[in-house]
Amino acid sequence: MKHALVVGGTGMLSRVSLWLIDNGYHVSIIARDAERMKQLLQEASSESHVTPLLVDYRNNDELKEEINRAIKENGNIDLVVAWIHSIAENALQIIANEVSKGENSCELFHIVGSSSNLNEIKKKSNAPSDYVHYYQVQLGFKFEDTQSRWLTNKEISEGVIEAIRKKKKVLIIGQIEPWENRPHW
Ligand SMILES: NC(=O)c1ccc[n+]([C@@H]2O[C@H](COP(=O)([O-])OP(=O)(O)OC[C@H]3O[C@@H](n4cnc5c(N)ncnc54)[C@H](OP(=O)(O)O)[C@@H]3O)[C@@H](O)[C@H]2O)c1
Repeated sequence: MKHALVVGGTGMLSRVSLWLIDNGYHVSIIARDAERMKQLLQEASSESHVTPLLVDYRNNDELKEEINRAIKENGNIDLVVAWIHSIAENALQIIANEVSKGENSCELFHIVGSSSNLNEIKKKSNAPSDYVHYYQVQLGFKFEDTQSRWLTNKEISEGVIEAIRKKKKVLIIGQIEPWENRPHW
């Protein structure tokens, strides 16, 4: 069975976690809140295909331990979807290092915010080995009928699923230009 890791998989990426389960993945999910995790498990088509990793991704050692536990239990990780707040400076690099240790090829979809500089992030995210293939998904906004708004969780998950299916190196959900049209709330 293919093994996916979804970082922040109980929030706006919940639908991505559920879609991966429906599409034949064993899904390991990183988040901290046990109650939110329980809710997601209840929605899953198969609870036995989910491994909850309740860990704060700012804690480098615990993050490593939990990823390694997931690999031990469910095999090498083939796909990572990561939504990580910028306060966790080392998390993405740690995840990429740990998943590449098995020397299997792994696709890493990095979800980034609207104001992110994609090239800067890509440089910092420096995939540590030839085994990790790096993709970016940027969250934009929607401009409709002279009004703009931020993306809904559904739109975000659908965009991420499209990026995974089409293996797009860079995918922008909605738009980020012209930036002055973004919502101001
Ligand atoms: N351009 C846009 O339209 C745009 C951009 C960004 C965000 N948004 C919106 O803003 C909303 C809020 O953003 P959000 O970041 O709170 O998204 P979220 O996806 O709803 O929540 C964050 C996810 O990451 C996990 N998480 C957060 N901090 C963590 C930590 N230190 N360690 C481990 N896991 C952690 C959370 O679980 P735990 O809380 O259980 O740890 C949750 O699964 C989103 O729902 C989205 O719709 C929109």
